[in-house]
Amino acid sequence: MKQKGLLYTGKAKSVYRTDTKGQLIVEFRDDITAFDGGKKDKLKNKGSYNAEASAFIFQYLEKNGVKTHFLEMIDPRRMLVRELSMIPLEVIVRNVAAGSIVRNYPFKEGARLNPPVIVIDFKDDSRHDPMLNDDLIIALKLATQKELAAIKKAALKINALLVKLMAAQEITLVDFKIEFGRAGKTIYLGDEISMDSMRLWDKKTKESLDKDVYRFDKGDVMATYNRVVKRITKTAAPKKAAAGKLKTAVKKPVKKSPIKKK
Ligand SMILES: Nc1ncnc2c1ncn2[C@@H]1O[C@H](COP(=O)(O)OP(=O)(O)O)[C@@H](O)[C@H]1O
Ligand SMILES: [Mg+2]
Repeated sequence: MKQKGLLYTGKAKSVYRTDTKGQLIVEFRDDITAFDGGKKDKLKNKGSYNAEASAFIFQYLEKNGVKTHFLEMIDPRRMLVRELSMIPLEVIVRNVAAGSIVRNYPFKEGARLNPPVIVIDFKDDSRHDPMLNDDLIIALKLATQKELAAIKKAALKINALLVKLMAAQEITLVDFKIEFGRAGKTIYLGDEISMDSMRLWDKKTKESLDKDVYRFDKGDVMATYNRVVKRITKTAAPKKAAAGKLKTAVKKPVKKSPIKKK
């Protein structure tokens, strides 16, 4: 499998064609952005930390019956994925009130949201990702009623699995953002699940273990990402997602590959 031309380049990742039909390479770059692109930096190793966390989580989800675009890691920052026709929705699942939901609604920061709250934004940078509702999603023909139901069901399942994964490492999964796409008639989880896209709090100290460290200058961002990757990938909770598949899935085991973390 060979990497071919650049298909598109986003704020933090670049997507390349391959010589295999239906397969793309997602490269996790060291770029980090926040506040709608208003804050930008390059942080050394950020790409590989996010790639490693994403790869580990995708494999854990797959083992537990979630269809994801993940195929294998090519090197520490490049992931081979199934090509999807992306659905321009940012599906956000919230277990604890934090971030925009606290700014925009009368929730107290840290309040438990039970059942979890799903918020779906329109992925459109030029419009600043406005929030949607079911009727708007249908009217804009972004998804059918049936697809929307499947997306919400998958989001809640992913949430339950991630809550369990994080709890095993004494981490609270506050919220996270995911994207889905279609391959034929099937909907797959795409994009990434990383420290950029999850909000994680240490259960004991309540310290931020995610991009909020960057957003609000709370400390050494890469030291935090590095520690979180180590914590997540050594977790005992996703036992089902251990050894076997990871070994075949990771082509060249490198220092930071998920299979070395036990
Ligand atoms: N499996 C996939 N097939 C096609 N496109 C994908 C896939 N997974 C993610 N993408 C898209 O690749 C881009 C990733 O780059 P990113 O830097 O996150 O972009 P953005 O600035 O749009 O968030 C996103 O636009 C995302 O929707
Ligand atoms: Mg993105």
